Amino acid sequence: MFFERPETGEVAILVHITIDSQIDQEDPQEFEELVLSAGGDPAAFITGSRKQPSPTFFVGTGKLEEIAAAVACHDAQLVIFNHTLTPSQERNLERHLKCRVLDRTGLILDIFAQRARSHEGKLQVELAQLQHMSTRLKRGWTHLDRQKGGIGMRGAGETQLELDQRMLRQRIKAINKSLERVRAQRNQGRRSRSRAEVPTVSLVGYTNAGKSTLFNQLTQAGAYAADQLFATLDSTLRAVAVPAFGTAILADTVGFISHLPHQLVEAFRATLEETAQADLLLHVVDAADESHDMLIHEVESVLAEIGADKTPVLQVFNKLDLLDGRGPAIDRDAAGRPVRVWLSARTGAGVDLLLQAISELLSGDLVQQELVLQPSHARLRSKLYARGAVQHEAVDEKGLYHLNVRLARNNLIRILAEEGLESDTDYQLGNPVKAAEPALQIG
Ligand code: GTP
Repeated sequence: MFFERPETGEVAILVHITIDSQIDQEDPQEFEELVLSAGGDPAAFITGSRKQPSPTFFVGTGKLEEIAAAVACHDAQLVIFNHTLTPSQERNLERHLKCRVLDRTGLILDIFAQRARSHEGKLQVELAQLQHMSTRLKRGWTHLDRQKGGIGMRGAGETQLELDQRMLRQRIKAINKSLERVRAQRNQGRRSRSRAEVPTVSLVGYTNAGKSTLFNQLTQAGAYAADQLFATLDSTLRAVAVPAFGTAILADTVGFISHLPHQLVEAFRATLEETAQADLLLHVVDAADESHDMLIHEVESVLAEIGADKTPVLQVFNKLDLLDGRGPAIDRDAAGRPVRVWLSARTGAGVDLLLQAISELLSGDLVQQELVLQPSHARLRSKLYARGAVQHEAVDEKGLYHLNVRLARNNLIRILAEEGLESDTDYQLGNPVKAAEPALQIG
């Protein structure tokens, strides 16, 4: 859903220069994908190499003429560099090329502006855009096409021309205030969720791995009649029913992009920190991408940076439909714990296995038990159903319900306690799953 492209893309010339002195180079293929996802229409891809960037134009004069020729030939409105440009390089390039020039930071900010869905995310992007813009305000915009809504002009960019430094500072202050308020609300939401002991499962992964597709699949598969508790969640959070476990909150996060500009890492700190506080991370990987091992490593190192390396992780190897001879499967470690699930978010194959693996990991220790309920225990019975815990039910001649339930031991203890039934002391619940227990008569 993040990759919706506008019908008519903005014609763009892409520039990627290999800088000999730089060890950590940007990836040209990822660059093209980023431009596409920003809604750009790449007309030409200009590459080259230099020892050092030139301070005036980043590129040398020969390369500059090649870019200018491409702009003229394709009637391009925009030149995008896969590099960070200084404000003066950007200004010089725009004067010379007579069209808009965007650097990598501006491009990524634009993508984030399109994708931010939560109120907080939108504010964070606007803040980062304004900060990026504040160093670039004095440029000669007048000779340029003031096209509204173009790449790099969305979100805060739309009002760029009207803003002066003073207004900019005021706006930054106002956003910071709103962010404080939103964060306080978010903390409150998190507290009430944790009071209700609803675990959070966060989707993380590289851009384009398929997180949003999987988010939609999971929320459809585990469609849950959300009660008031979840009515206030923003659109990146959904309640899902995990079979044999109960309710979990699924959180979608913005995709990782290599060499995320520094001000964006700062801007997204709160979102990233929330990721760190999940009970389980689903690390979505595009298994069909040849460089997936490297990308896994990059995501893991970012997670370590934000302190999320202690959170349990389940790898989700997605896009199985593009791989030959592999079916949906759960890979387990020596102790039998799920470590990886192979699936296709697009076709839905293997999504049931993922829900099973999530259920196992969240439950830790599951119990399977037969409960015998009086008709007066209707509320207990409906709670068990609401958690997806009931495997089988029969009613005997005395009108008693025989329920075969399977759920996390803690959940069972808690639900029984909520109904005024003392758990462990009254009943033996130390039953590993599979070994069905003798019936537990209640009431
Ligand atoms: P960001 O929003 O950039 O973080 O990306 P994302 O991880 O949310 O990926 P998204 O769900 O937007 O999917 C990216 C692209 O991969 C889209 O074109 C999807 O249609 C495609 N895709 C997702 N899952 C599958 C899959 O199982 N098989 C195939 N063939 N394509 C898939």
